[in-house]
Amino acid sequence: MITIALSKGRIFEETLPLLAAAGIVPSESPEASRKLIIGTNRPDVQLIIVRASDVPTYVQHGAADLGVAGKDVLIEHGGDGLYQPVDLNIAKCRMMVATRVGFDYATAVQRGARLRVATKYVQTARLHFAAKGVHCDLIKLYGSMELAPLVGLADVIVDLVSTGNTLTANHLVAVEEIMTISSRLVVNEAAMKLKHATLQPIVEAFRQAAGG
Ligand code: ATP
Ligand code: PRP
Repeated sequence: MITIALSKGRIFEETLPLLAAAGIVPSESPEASRKLIIGTNRPDVQLIIVRASDVPTYVQHGAADLGVAGKDVLIEHGGDGLYQPVDLNIAKCRMMVATRVGFDYATAVQRGARLRVATKYVQTARLHFAAKGVHCDLIKLYGSMELAPLVGLADVIVDLVSTGNTLTANHLVAVEEIMTISSRLVVNEAAMKLKHATLQPIVEAFRQAAGG
Protein backbone atom coordinates (compact mmCIF):
# COMPACT_ATOMS: atom_id res chain seq x y z
CA MET A 1 0.00 0.00 0.00
CA ILE A 2 1.19 3.54 -0.84
CA THR A 3 -0.06 6.23 1.55
CA ILE A 4 -0.08 9.92 0.56
CA ALA A 5 -0.54 12.62 3.25
CA LEU A 6 -2.40 15.76 2.21
CA SER A 7 -4.09 18.62 4.03
CA LYS A 8 -7.65 19.73 3.29
CA GLY A 9 -8.33 22.91 1.36
CA ARG A 10 -5.88 24.48 -1.06
CA ILE A 11 -3.24 21.71 -0.90
CA PHE A 12 -5.81 18.98 -1.58
CA GLU A 13 -7.46 20.97 -4.39
CA GLU A 14 -4.19 21.96 -6.05
CA THR A 15 -2.76 18.43 -5.75
CA LEU A 16 -5.77 16.82 -7.50
CA PRO A 17 -4.43 17.52 -11.05
CA LEU A 18 -1.01 16.15 -10.07
CA LEU A 19 -2.59 12.98 -8.66
CA ALA A 20 -4.62 12.67 -11.87
CA ALA A 21 -1.39 12.91 -13.90
CA ALA A 22 -0.12 9.93 -11.88
CA GLY A 23 -3.37 8.06 -12.60
CA ILE A 24 -4.69 8.50 -9.06
CA VAL A 25 -8.26 9.69 -8.46
CA PRO A 26 -9.62 10.01 -4.90
CA SER A 27 -12.90 8.16 -4.40
CA GLU A 28 -14.40 11.04 -2.37
CA SER A 29 -13.72 14.58 -1.18
CA PRO A 30 -12.45 15.04 2.41
CA GLU A 31 -14.65 18.15 2.75
CA ALA A 32 -17.81 16.19 1.98
CA SER A 33 -17.10 12.90 3.73
CA ARG A 34 -15.05 14.07 6.77
CA LYS A 35 -13.15 10.78 6.45
CA LEU A 36 -9.44 10.89 7.31
CA ILE A 37 -8.51 7.88 5.17
CA ILE A 38 -9.69 8.13 1.60
CA GLY A 39 -9.45 5.41 -1.00
CA THR A 40 -8.56 5.99 -4.63
CA ASN A 41 -9.22 4.32 -7.97
CA ARG A 42 -5.99 2.39 -7.33
CA PRO A 43 -6.40 -0.36 -4.74
CA ASP A 44 -2.74 0.07 -3.73
CA VAL A 45 -2.96 3.85 -3.08
CA GLN A 46 -4.73 5.66 -0.22
CA LEU A 47 -4.78 9.26 0.97
CA ILE A 48 -4.67 10.40 4.59
CA ILE A 49 -5.97 13.85 5.55
CA VAL A 50 -3.88 15.65 8.18
CA ARG A 51 -3.16 19.22 9.31
CA ALA A 52 -0.86 21.05 6.89
CA SER A 53 1.85 21.36 9.53
CA ASP A 54 1.61 17.64 10.39
CA VAL A 55 2.32 16.36 6.85
CA PRO A 56 6.14 16.22 7.31
CA THR A 57 5.74 14.36 10.62
CA TYR A 58 3.59 11.59 9.10
CA VAL A 59 6.03 11.19 6.20
CA GLN A 60 9.16 11.36 8.38
CA HIS A 61 7.91 8.50 10.56
CA GLY A 62 6.79 6.40 7.59
CA ALA A 63 3.07 6.60 8.46
CA ALA A 64 2.80 8.06 4.96
CA ASP A 65 5.17 7.36 2.06
CA LEU A 66 4.53 10.64 0.26
CA GLY A 67 3.09 14.03 1.16
CA VAL A 68 2.64 17.57 -0.06
CA ALA A 69 3.84 20.36 2.24
CA GLY A 70 4.55 24.09 1.97
CA LYS A 71 8.14 25.32 2.19
CA ASP A 72 7.01 27.31 5.26
CA VAL A 73 5.95 24.09 7.00
CA LEU A 74 9.10 22.24 5.92
CA ILE A 75 11.39 24.93 7.33
CA GLU A 76 9.59 24.80 10.68
CA HIS A 77 9.74 20.98 10.70
CA GLY A 78 13.43 20.85 9.75
CA GLY A 79 13.11 18.21 7.02
CA ASP A 80 14.71 15.26 8.88
CA GLY A 81 14.00 11.89 7.21
CA LEU A 82 12.46 13.51 4.13
CA TYR A 83 13.43 13.68 0.50
CA GLN A 84 12.08 16.79 -1.23
CA PRO A 85 12.45 15.76 -4.88
CA VAL A 86 9.96 18.11 -6.57
CA ASP A 87 8.90 21.74 -6.16
CA LEU A 88 5.25 21.43 -7.23
CA ASN A 89 4.76 25.16 -7.82
CA ILE A 90 1.37 25.09 -6.08
CA ALA A 91 -0.03 27.03 -3.09
CA LYS A 92 2.26 29.92 -3.99
CA CYS A 93 2.57 32.88 -1.67
CA ARG A 94 5.25 34.95 0.06
CA MET A 95 6.59 34.96 3.61
CA MET A 96 6.57 38.60 4.68
CA VAL A 97 7.26 40.89 7.62
CA ALA A 98 4.23 43.14 8.18
CA THR A 99 3.49 46.00 10.56
CA ARG A 100 0.73 48.43 11.44
CA VAL A 101 0.37 51.24 8.90
CA GLY A 102 2.50 54.07 10.33
CA PHE A 103 4.98 51.90 12.26
CA ASP A 104 8.49 53.00 11.24
CA TYR A 105 10.06 49.58 10.67
CA ALA A 106 13.26 50.86 9.00
CA THR A 107 14.05 53.14 11.93
CA ALA A 108 13.15 50.52 14.54
CA VAL A 109 15.56 48.08 12.87
CA GLN A 110 18.35 50.66 12.50
CA ARG A 111 18.03 51.85 16.10
CA GLY A 112 18.93 48.37 17.26
CA ALA A 113 15.85 48.21 19.48
CA ARG A 114 14.49 44.76 20.32
CA LEU A 115 11.68 43.95 17.96
CA ARG A 116 8.63 42.05 19.21
CA VAL A 117 7.74 39.55 16.50
CA ALA A 118 4.54 37.49 16.59
CA THR A 119 4.39 34.48 14.29
CA LYS A 120 3.48 30.87 13.69
CA TYR A 121 6.80 30.57 11.81
CA VAL A 122 9.33 30.99 14.62
CA GLN A 123 12.21 29.17 12.90
CA THR A 124 11.87 31.26 9.76
CA ALA A 125 11.57 34.48 11.77
CA ARG A 126 14.54 33.59 14.00
CA LEU A 127 16.78 32.89 10.99
CA HIS A 128 15.63 36.01 9.14
CA PHE A 129 16.23 38.47 11.97
CA ALA A 130 19.48 36.78 13.03
CA ALA A 131 20.81 37.18 9.46
CA LYS A 132 19.94 40.90 9.62
CA GLY A 133 21.54 41.24 13.06
CA VAL A 134 18.22 42.38 14.54
CA HIS A 135 17.50 41.37 18.14
CA CYS A 136 13.96 40.10 18.51
CA ASP A 137 11.60 38.59 21.03
CA LEU A 138 9.59 35.87 19.31
CA ILE A 139 5.99 35.35 20.33
CA LYS A 140 4.57 32.04 19.08
CA LEU A 141 1.01 32.18 17.75
CA TYR A 142 -1.06 29.51 16.00
CA GLY A 143 -3.16 31.76 13.74
CA SER A 144 -4.76 35.20 13.29
CA MET A 145 -1.31 36.78 13.46
CA GLU A 146 -2.72 39.99 11.93
CA LEU A 147 -4.31 40.82 15.26
CA ALA A 148 -1.04 40.98 17.22
CA PRO A 149 0.21 44.45 16.13
CA LEU A 150 -3.31 45.90 16.43
CA VAL A 151 -3.65 45.07 20.11
CA GLY A 152 -0.05 45.76 21.13
CA LEU A 153 1.12 42.15 21.43
CA ALA A 154 3.89 42.68 18.86
CA ASP A 155 5.59 45.32 16.70
CA VAL A 156 5.61 43.12 13.60
CA ILE A 157 4.31 39.81 12.36
CA VAL A 158 5.86 37.23 10.07
CA ASP A 159 3.12 35.65 7.98
CA LEU A 160 2.16 34.38 4.54
CA VAL A 161 0.78 36.87 2.06
CA SER A 162 -0.89 36.10 -1.25
CA THR A 163 -3.31 38.77 -2.46
CA GLY A 164 -2.56 41.10 0.49
CA ASN A 165 -6.29 41.32 1.26
CA THR A 166 -5.92 40.04 4.82
CA LEU A 167 -3.24 42.64 5.62
CA THR A 168 -5.27 45.47 4.06
CA ALA A 169 -8.44 44.47 5.89
CA ASN A 170 -6.53 44.79 9.17
CA HIS A 171 -4.68 48.06 8.38
CA LEU A 172 -1.34 46.31 8.10
CA VAL A 173 1.34 46.71 5.49
CA ALA A 174 4.07 44.35 4.27
CA VAL A 175 7.51 45.88 4.86
CA GLU A 176 9.88 43.07 3.87
CA GLU A 177 9.82 39.87 1.86
CA ILE A 178 11.57 36.95 3.54
CA MET A 179 11.10 34.34 0.80
CA THR A 180 8.73 33.04 -1.82
CA ILE A 181 6.80 29.92 -0.81
CA SER A 182 5.43 27.00 -2.76
CA SER A 183 4.64 23.39 -1.88
CA ARG A 184 6.93 20.41 -2.35
CA LEU A 185 6.46 16.71 -2.76
CA VAL A 186 8.04 14.99 0.24
CA VAL A 187 9.01 11.33 0.35
CA ASN A 188 9.95 9.11 3.29
CA GLU A 189 13.65 8.30 2.87
CA ALA A 190 13.34 4.60 3.72
CA ALA A 191 10.22 4.13 1.54
CA MET A 192 12.03 5.73 -1.41
CA LYS A 193 14.47 2.80 -1.26
CA LEU A 194 12.14 -0.05 -0.20
CA LYS A 195 9.17 0.88 -2.44
CA HIS A 196 11.22 2.45 -5.23
CA ALA A 197 9.53 0.60 -8.10
CA THR A 198 6.07 1.85 -7.09
CA LEU A 199 7.02 5.33 -5.84
CA GLN A 200 9.34 6.41 -8.64
CA PRO A 201 6.60 6.55 -11.36
CA ILE A 202 4.39 8.64 -9.04
CA VAL A 203 7.27 11.03 -8.27
CA GLU A 204 8.06 11.34 -11.99
CA ALA A 205 4.39 11.96 -12.93
CA PHE A 206 4.23 14.73 -10.30
CA ARG A 207 7.51 16.19 -11.60
CA GLN A 208 6.25 16.30 -15.20
CA ALA A 209 2.81 17.64 -14.28
CA ALA A 210 4.46 20.35 -12.15
CA GLY A 211 6.40 21.48 -15.19
CA GLY A 212 9.82 20.08 -14.80
P1 ATP B 1 -2.51 24.32 9.77
O1 ATP B 1 -3.86 23.73 9.40
O2 ATP B 1 -1.50 23.28 10.07
O3 ATP B 1 -2.59 25.41 10.79
P2 ATP B 1 -2.62 26.18 7.55
O4 ATP B 1 -3.90 26.70 8.08
O5 ATP B 1 -1.51 27.16 7.24
O6 ATP B 1 -1.96 25.03 8.45
P3 ATP B 1 -3.50 25.89 4.85
O7 ATP B 1 -4.16 27.21 5.04
O8 ATP B 1 -4.25 24.75 4.26
O9 ATP B 1 -2.93 25.36 6.22
O10 ATP B 1 -2.21 26.17 3.99
C1 ATP B 1 -1.43 25.13 3.47
C2 ATP B 1 -0.20 25.70 2.80
O11 ATP B 1 -0.59 26.56 1.73
C3 ATP B 1 0.68 26.57 3.71
O12 ATP B 1 1.62 25.77 4.41
C4 ATP B 1 1.35 27.50 2.72
O13 ATP B 1 2.49 26.88 2.13
C5 ATP B 1 0.28 27.67 1.63
N1 ATP B 1 -0.55 28.89 1.83
C6 ATP B 1 -1.00 29.40 3.00
N2 ATP B 1 -1.73 30.51 2.81
C7 ATP B 1 -1.74 30.71 1.47
C8 ATP B 1 -2.36 31.70 0.63
N3 ATP B 1 -3.09 32.69 1.14
N4 ATP B 1 -2.20 31.58 -0.70
C9 ATP B 1 -1.48 30.56 -1.22
N5 ATP B 1 -0.87 29.61 -0.47
C10 ATP B 1 -1.00 29.68 0.85
C1 PRP C 1 -3.20 32.62 5.01
C2 PRP C 1 -2.24 33.52 5.78
C3 PRP C 1 -2.89 34.88 5.70
C4 PRP C 1 -3.67 34.79 4.40
C5 PRP C 1 -3.00 35.65 3.38
O1 PRP C 1 -4.27 32.29 5.81
O2 PRP C 1 -2.06 33.09 7.11
O3 PRP C 1 -3.75 35.12 6.79
O4 PRP C 1 -3.65 33.43 3.94
O5 PRP C 1 -3.68 35.59 2.13
P1 PRP C 1 -4.07 36.94 1.38
O6 PRP C 1 -2.80 37.75 1.28
O7 PRP C 1 -4.54 36.46 0.02
O8 PRP C 1 -5.13 37.62 2.14
P2 PRP C 1 -5.34 31.17 5.31
O9 PRP C 1 -6.18 31.68 4.22
O10 PRP C 1 -4.60 29.90 5.02
O11 PRP C 1 -6.18 31.00 6.59
P3 PRP C 1 -5.82 30.08 7.84
O12 PRP C 1 -4.35 30.31 8.16
O13 PRP C 1 -6.75 30.59 8.86
O14 PRP C 1 -6.07 28.68 7.36
